[in-house]
Amino acid sequence: MTSEKLQQAREFEDKYVPHIPAGDRPLFHVTGGIGWINDPNGFSCYKGEYHLFYQYHPYSTKWGPMHWGHVKTRDFIRWERLPVALAPDQEYDQNGCFSGGALELDDGRQLIMYTGVHRQRREDGLVEEYQTQCIAVGDGVDYEKYEGNPVLTGKDLPAGNSVLDFRDPKIWREDGLFRAVVGNRTEDDSGAILLFESDDALHWRPAGVVDRCRNEFGLMWECPDFFPLDGKQVLLTSPQDMLALGLEFHAGYGALCLMGSWDSAARKFDREKVQSLDYGIDFYAAQTLQAYDGRRIMIAWMQNWTNSNCQPRGSRIFGEMTLPRELAIRDGRLVQNPVRELDAYHGHRVAHSDVLVTGETNLPGVSGRILDMTVTVRPAGGMYHAFRLNVAQDGEHVTYIRYKPVMNILRVDRSRCGVRYDVVHAREFQVRPRNGELKLRLVMDRHSLELFANDGEQAATFIVYTPESADSISFQAEGGAVLVDVEKYDLDLT
Ligand code: FRU
Repeated sequence: MTSEKLQQAREFEDKYVPHIPAGDRPLFHVTGGIGWINDPNGFSCYKGEYHLFYQYHPYSTKWGPMHWGHVKTRDFIRWERLPVALAPDQEYDQNGCFSGGALELDDGRQLIMYTGVHRQRREDGLVEEYQTQCIAVGDGVDYEKYEGNPVLTGKDLPAGNSVLDFRDPKIWREDGLFRAVVGNRTEDDSGAILLFESDDALHWRPAGVVDRCRNEFGLMWECPDFFPLDGKQVLLTSPQDMLALGLEFHAGYGALCLMGSWDSAARKFDREKVQSLDYGIDFYAAQTLQAYDGRRIMIAWMQNWTNSNCQPRGSRIFGEMTLPRELAIRDGRLVQNPVRELDAYHGHRVAHSDVLVTGETNLPGVSGRILDMTVTVRPAGGMYHAFRLNVAQDGEHVTYIRYKPVMNILRVDRSRCGVRYDVVHAREFQVRPRNGELKLRLVMDRHSLELFANDGEQAATFIVYTPESADSISFQAEGGAVLVDVEKYDLDLT
């Protein structure tokens, strides 16, 4: 049965979404129909297609009572919009249907596990918030919330763990069981990822702690995901309140990859290393699925809470997802590259090789804001101080990627992209060029820039709200000369 709240959200979309100009959206990245989106949810396989839900507040470009928006795809590039899937229409989720996961059941139905939020005023007047885990089951379009909701509450938590920070279940099947990891704030005020198990995906029991933060990598750990990859086990999480550490971890809302081994029978995760998941500014709450051909594909919110007030004036939509990325482990590091399906949308190609760059130069045919471009840089004989790639550029605006070979540091800086907010606009991180050669792949889609360094060894994601007319790209060498190869494709969905 469709509740009044869900009906209202669906009608709101029907009425206003058609009036949003296509040019206000990216070409091939997921956005909400209208209004605000944050985390990707329920990224999963269902009946031969890939479904993606998202945290959604259709009524404004600000966060509000969370609904679940819904899209699906066959190739991760071309998406079909579906009606709003969940609305906060029950007592236990009246203040929001927060993040969660989804999977296909044996009987052909699709099951969603999400966090239901409700607030209650206590006798002393204070408002308390409760986060519980809930289930909804449906046919890929319409979902019924389970009458036994919530299926996990504060009663299932160790004493002292917070019911206010108990959220974001990611569900999967393993060893004949349904399992879910859920983020939680522990007694020491930091985070932990808890494991729960079930035989039928409706009745759940606690099964231990996968990993805990111990005040080391941020505090509360949000949006966990847990999966095997190339012989290792990977735990992804997005911590709040990180402290900066070298150039690997920045302060604030981060995104981590914890890698180790998993003894499924003993339910024991041995963490071996931790790395940043993305070295840019706008990346949070990543979630993965295993594609029908076995690839592990990740998608994330192409934003960060700290910056989410930096909105372009007048737009009716805010927030978009990253390009889905293929994950692998290489030399003990998580690597990520755009899904290979993107190649099928390569349009006009321009290539230049062995271009000697001394000052600043443009190259014939190399400009644009919707493109997939690979730039390889190497020294032209002697040393050089820096190489700079300027994009989304006109007389007034520029976003640049600068590489300093002495330190192997890459800097991406959008301070002059046209932004009017005084928050962080630059990131620096260490890269590992091979034989003095740095390879940068850049995917741009109107207001986004996703950078993949050295065949995906590092990814760095940025939103640049520069007017689209600023589409110049230039190559620049400082204190010496470089040789540059460029291969650029326009991207075309028609
Ligand atoms: C992460 C998050 C989740 C929560 C959701 C609410 O971005 O805070 O922990 O479920 O957003 O919209």
